[in-house]
Amino acid sequence: MGEYFGDILKRALDRRDFLKLTGTSAVAFSSPFAHAKTKNKPTKSLSYKTIYPNNEDRVIVPEGYRVSILIKWGDPLDNGEPLNWNRVYEGTTSEDVERQKRCFGYNADFVGFFKLTSNRALLVVNHEYTNPELMFKDFDLDTSTPTREQADLMLQAHGVSVVEIRRKSDGSWEYVKGSPFNRRITGDTVCLISGPAKGHRLMKTSYDPNGLLVYGTLNNCAAGKTPWGTVLTCEENFHSYFGGDRALISDDLVRSIHQRYGVPSRRARQYGFHIYHDRFNINIEPNEAFRFGWVVEIDPYDPTRPPVKRTALGRFKHEAATTVVANDGRVVVYMGDDERFEYIYKFVTKGKYDPLNRTANFGLLDEGTLYVAKFNDDLTGEWIPIATVDGSRITPNPNLPEPFQSDPVLCFINTRRAADLLGATRMDRPEDVEWNPITRSVFVALTYNERRGAPVQPRTDKANPRPLNHMGHIIEIKEQNNDPTSTRFTWVMAMLCGDPRATDENRKLYIYGQPAKETTPAISAPDNFAFDKLGNVWIATDGNPHPDRLAKNDGVYTLNVYTKELKMFLSGVPGCEICGPEFSEDYKTFFCAIQHPGEGGANTRWPYLGDGVVVPRPAVVQVQRNDGREVYL
Ligand code: FEO
Ligand code: CA
Ligand code: CA
Repeated sequence: MGEYFGDILKRALDRRDFLKLTGTSAVAFSSPFAHAKTKNKPTKSLSYKTIYPNNEDRVIVPEGYRVSILIKWGDPLDNGEPLNWNRVYEGTTSEDVERQKRCFGYNADFVGFFKLTSNRALLVVNHEYTNPELMFKDFDLDTSTPTREQADLMLQAHGVSVVEIRRKSDGSWEYVKGSPFNRRITGDTVCLISGPAKGHRLMKTSYDPNGLLVYGTLNNCAAGKTPWGTVLTCEENFHSYFGGDRALISDDLVRSIHQRYGVPSRRARQYGFHIYHDRFNINIEPNEAFRFGWVVEIDPYDPTRPPVKRTALGRFKHEAATTVVANDGRVVVYMGDDERFEYIYKFVTKGKYDPLNRTANFGLLDEGTLYVAKFNDDLTGEWIPIATVDGSRITPNPNLPEPFQSDPVLCFINTRRAADLLGATRMDRPEDVEWNPITRSVFVALTYNERRGAPVQPRTDKANPRPLNHMGHIIEIKEQNNDPTSTRFTWVMAMLCGDPRATDENRKLYIYGQPAKETTPAISAPDNFAFDKLGNVWIATDGNPHPDRLAKNDGVYTLNVYTKELKMFLSGVPGCEICGPEFSEDYKTFFCAIQHPGEGGANTRWPYLGDGVVVPRPAVVQVQRNDGREVYL
């Protein structure tokens, strides 16, 4: 650990400050808790005055910062009209479905900034899911079924948007209508299948008898950016869209894999896709669900390049896929499977990143080794290989039983089962898993798991230490030798989320093993991360509003990696989660998504633009400092 925290400081501080610190307190570097104890705290970063969790019906940022809407659901990406939100609400028409194909989608999640020039960029935004109970009048989640037009509008409101933005003279950004870069990828855009599962018998359907392409990408939650400038958008709760009766499927393997992934889902009715489109009915197209649950690579700079489902990265409910280039040039992708008691994965490419030839990297993610994480109670851990893809040859872990040996593609289609059999550690809902380039460690968000330790459920362990874990926690992994390709690691509990004033130990906030000061803002349900230039961790939450957690709006928090101080930077509106924390390349703008404002019966019509629209609208917001300087200062 000593070298590791020395490294952090060396990178973040100038040489004189570094020597001052190491000179005064060499021993302090032996423990991850050291920085809280040293008196020589760097004070330059994150100087803002914290806000606190609240229930206000507006987005709040600290004093000295301003927040504004950049783009929202229904804004036109072409030069046409915006979505007619009130007509969609009153009685969706086929004209509305057509407009949604060219307008910004619903429930913005991941936000990725891709530079074009100093004042122009592309924003890539995921549209995770839709809320018919908020979009459509009198829609009851328990009983209603969408009309054909409502279902089709929702299908078109899913997927991904690529949109050009440009900087205005006041330093804020606006999106560019009609830019040739603007692009909608939806629930029925043609995507190619690549990697080991391409052409496998389970990937074939009546509309794609060769298993080569899929219509659409769905439930795109978070994502990651590759070093070669593409996006890895992640299909999370894909099971939600599939209806039918699993018991009627005669193929035992198909039925068992669907069971492991929760296909079909009771939630299918609220989307209605399976009612109007046979491919979402598992009794008509039993294999269609195998074509979702992947990481999908998109080139934001080339609107003509189809999205590609990269099957070597495994099939599960992918939260995000974040990359780092190892010293030897191989690329490592960290991934979480966001469901209770699921796993953390990583993929290490066979080939090396070529910084001089962008398109040479486009096949990199098709060959390499997929691993799953095992956390030991002695704070060590290992990455267990599931299978390696090398050309057309797939080598499964020899400890896997049949049918994984004779049909090793199943390691990628039924990844969860392979991980079960290899003894990986069942985690408390793995969300973002991200390499912090400054600390050179991996931050893992375990959002919460209220079933941990309940009767007949898995018990607590050191990495998931809280019974009935309502608040969630954050683990920091240090790969052996700081090498992301390592198969061994050590780990520490960076944060047990909660309220510093809680009397119940299971709800109390601990940061690197220490109880947080009473003035620290409460936090729960960590979901996504971003890192500023100094390595501080920006944490977006998804779950504060639940009465079992904070009963307050979700927010964005910052963890100062030097002082271990936690502050709250932004709070959202009732019923929303906050997603997609992201910075502009110059760190002068912070972006995030206000997803599903009004969900769960929360009373809001945010963003209140005075345009007479009666429904709340998910949106991407931007934050700048009033003085125009970097937001993390
Ligand atoms: Fe879509 Fe795991 O949050
Ligand atoms: Ca998420
Ligand atoms: Ca979440």
